[in-house]
Amino acid sequence: MSTVVIVGSQWGDEGKGKVIDYLASEADVVVRGQGGNNAGHTVVVGDQKYALHLIPSGILNKDALNVIGNGVVLDPEGFLKEIQGLEDKGIDTSTIKISERAHVVFPYHKEIDRLAEEARGKEKIGTTVKGIGPTYMDKVERSGIRVCDLVNPDLLRSKLTAQIEQKNKIITAIYGGQALDAEGIIKTYTAYGEQIKKFVADTSVMVYDAVKANKKVLLEGAQGTLLDIDFGTYPYVTSSHPISGGFAIGSGIGPNCIEEVLGITKAYTTRVGKGPFVTELFDETGDKIRVQGHEFGTTTGRPRRCGWLDLVIVNYAARINGMTCMSLMLLDVLTGFETLKICTGYNYKGEVLKHFPADLTKLADCTPIYHELAGWQEDITNCESYDDLPKQAKAYIEFIEEEVGIPVKIVSVGPKRSQTIIRESIYR
Ligand code: GDP
Ligand code: IMO
Ligand code: MG
Repeated sequence: MSTVVIVGSQWGDEGKGKVIDYLASEADVVVRGQGGNNAGHTVVVGDQKYALHLIPSGILNKDALNVIGNGVVLDPEGFLKEIQGLEDKGIDTSTIKISERAHVVFPYHKEIDRLAEEARGKEKIGTTVKGIGPTYMDKVERSGIRVCDLVNPDLLRSKLTAQIEQKNKIITAIYGGQALDAEGIIKTYTAYGEQIKKFVADTSVMVYDAVKANKKVLLEGAQGTLLDIDFGTYPYVTSSHPISGGFAIGSGIGPNCIEEVLGITKAYTTRVGKGPFVTELFDETGDKIRVQGHEFGTTTGRPRRCGWLDLVIVNYAARINGMTCMSLMLLDVLTGFETLKICTGYNYKGEVLKHFPADLTKLADCTPIYHELAGWQEDITNCESYDDLPKQAKAYIEFIEEEVGIPVKIVSVGPKRSQTIIRESIYR
């Protein structure tokens, strides 16, 4: 058995796409288990840059099966656009399988997402407006429409007719919006169902069979631990479970099938959207990180909020996910600083907190306790082995290992596949 879960250990955008693409070269199956096209995973191969949203980041490796699991919410419009974009670049997309149990995102979900955000005024969550929250709401409320319904035209018509009638009431009466055209949606989505049919399968069986046959299975997390609906900075979270436990549900295998949990950790911290962020930098250091790290959203283009590495968060992620090792990303972005700071605890009204608090009013009153390390000035983007790194960079990595108590097995020094230092194999 060689099943690896990849999770974001911060607020998303840690560089998961790059690592998944890298590890997918050896994988037999790559599986997305939650979220939707709110995710934006960038993969750079040579001079070509790919932005993947719904499609697993293993797609560029032609031998792996790429599964969109039952826990994902599938926007057919976004999916088909992404397929077209990849095919235009000569990428084979026939390796994609979509779970018949995945829930479908419809135009009313996106419209309600937009209207609800608008109605929140200053209390906005800062969603990607992709309809993710409203689709999971319908799933939990038991009024969702699944992929197996999407590919059944008669059933789709009857379910959509009822749903659109109800959602139009919400759109017009609660939010004062414009009612959506039911017939237009039914026609368009029936046609999408026809195009999507060839991808649909009972993916849980496929993933299980691969695990049992000792194949290499990569479970690809989207978002990050602090965006988890239970363990994230609620309500500034997404509506799914991006943590490792989410995979048992989102891909349909037992938790005991998961062996290795690889936490993807950015060498500093970023977040998009709202909510407290203890190590956030509002000065030129924050700007320097944003510019050097090109910290602008893959999905929405928004500038990301930037700050120093926060190990209260990473330790929390290690605990919640059962992380067994880490991949430290974007280390090259920290080149050129005199000193670097790592947060090891929070000061809350004179009390030292080591565990990430649930209460956001408490979190907002926390200030970081920093450990300072010397920076390095050398360009590290061409370092090919751990020993090529400057001693200050090694000290930075080893401090993290010491504090989190698990090894940093991968160090990433640039966006390309070649800019990856593997210290120890991830597959067992
Ligand atoms: P994801 O959502 O976790 O897959 O991460 P994103 O793709 O949204 O954001 C990570 C960004 O960092 C992308 O633009 C990557 O190409 C880039 N990236 C990944 N690893 C490295 C690295 O080690 N150094 C640099 N400079 N960029 C990286
Ligand atoms: P990847 O996979 C960073 C954030 C949104 C918003 C909150 C809720 O690229 O790491 P949603 O549209 O999901 O209801 O928005 O979650 N968010 C992400 N932030 N990376 C992501 O994915 C994200 N997906 C959602 O910005 O704050
Ligand atoms: Mg991203």
